[in-house]
Amino acid sequence: MPASLSTCPKPQLEELQSALRAQYQRHCEANHALDLTRGKPSTAQLDLSDALDGILAGNYRAEDGSDCRNYGGLHGLPELRQLGATLLGTSAEQTIAGGSSSLTLMYFTLLFAKLFGLAGAPPWQLHRQPKILCPVPGYDRHFAICERLGIEMITVAMRSDGPDMDAVEALLAEDDEIVGMWNVPKYSNPTGITYSDAVVRRIAALGPRAQPGFLVLWDNAYAVHDIAAKGDPLTAIAPLAQAAGTEVAQFASTSKITHAGAGVSFMAGSQALIESMVEQLGIAMIGPDKVNQLRHVALLKAGGLAELMAGHQALLAPRFAAVEEALSAHFSGSELLSWSRPNGGYFVSVDTLPGVASRVVALAAAAGVKLTPAGATFPYNRDPADRNIRLAPSFPSLEDVVSTMQVFCCCVQLASVEQQLANG
Ligand SMILES: Cc1ncc(COP(=O)(O)O)c(C=O)c1O
Repeated sequence: MPASLSTCPKPQLEELQSALRAQYQRHCEANHALDLTRGKPSTAQLDLSDALDGILAGNYRAEDGSDCRNYGGLHGLPELRQLGATLLGTSAEQTIAGGSSSLTLMYFTLLFAKLFGLAGAPPWQLHRQPKILCPVPGYDRHFAICERLGIEMITVAMRSDGPDMDAVEALLAEDDEIVGMWNVPKYSNPTGITYSDAVVRRIAALGPRAQPGFLVLWDNAYAVHDIAAKGDPLTAIAPLAQAAGTEVAQFASTSKITHAGAGVSFMAGSQALIESMVEQLGIAMIGPDKVNQLRHVALLKAGGLAELMAGHQALLAPRFAAVEEALSAHFSGSELLSWSRPNGGYFVSVDTLPGVASRVVALAAAAGVKLTPAGATFPYNRDPADRNIRLAPSFPSLEDVVSTMQVFCCCVQLASVEQQLANG
């Protein structure tokens, strides 16, 4: 495959196209049923936490002697809040522990901020059109929350060290309807990058540049999720933000640590933010599932967390290596595809030539390989360049990841050649 198609003579391109079509046809005839769409842990990863079952052995008492089976404890178990605080680089007093989904806490945060205002700030709905800054490519479910709540999304380019902060600061200076900014600061979904110290510091200083009520949304879903032997460091934002007067809402969960559908979640922020959040949550519930919280404390305390994460790393690293191996074998030095090489998290982000990504996804689907829809990593499902595709290799078996990548690489090559021929 030539590194560049634009300099390739037409007859050579036509020859390439027919060879790739034949290869693609063979993939179609192989009756694949492969799926690289969602970043779910594999069954073997879930098995790592099966000790949760029965771990309490009938002892439902928390450290303070309270009975976890009963109502109450809106802030979550103190011992679990301490664990969440360690994960997020805050204090237990400024951290709450909730149910299985951090996404639920994010949704409530935006809903409450819009309807009622949080931490004494005016409600976002007082703005004619509240807007949130969204580094792209980004996480589709963050975008879905904004869309559902009628919050306009403004995209900002994601770079190798985090969002384009010049653009962020310029946008804040010119638009007083911007009420927040999404971030996945470590092993970002989907690019896998970790924000640099300089970027974290600039984000922590945004508060005074913005309108009252501005909220930095800091979704640290992959705080301890290293794939490489040496993980990325992330500067703790909480003390910096507190010193600068910037309100930051941090989130995390054990979804990719223990059982994805039966874990615990965390939210941290200033005392005022946390207390106003708890006040609102108290209308919606009497307390979280403290029995599950106690089970998590028992499993994760005293080195349990580190041991589990090493187990995940051992299962994930070969799958990510298989993706890297296939991509570099097919596209090293080629202009057809660029991709991320994350040190952790759940995703590899690829960029095709402009205008090619949706054709790649359609070709792969017809060959029995489900990929995340092109555009899903952008607000409103619109990738203006039609380039980005998110690959999630955690769930399929290693063998299936290898097969999927062969089909994927063939589809990228075929779609790129087709486009070059169509453009003359
Ligand atoms: C960045 C990010 N945040 C949050 C979640 C979901 O978190 P939870 O399961 O705690 O709702 C995911 C899952 O893929 C994610 O990638």
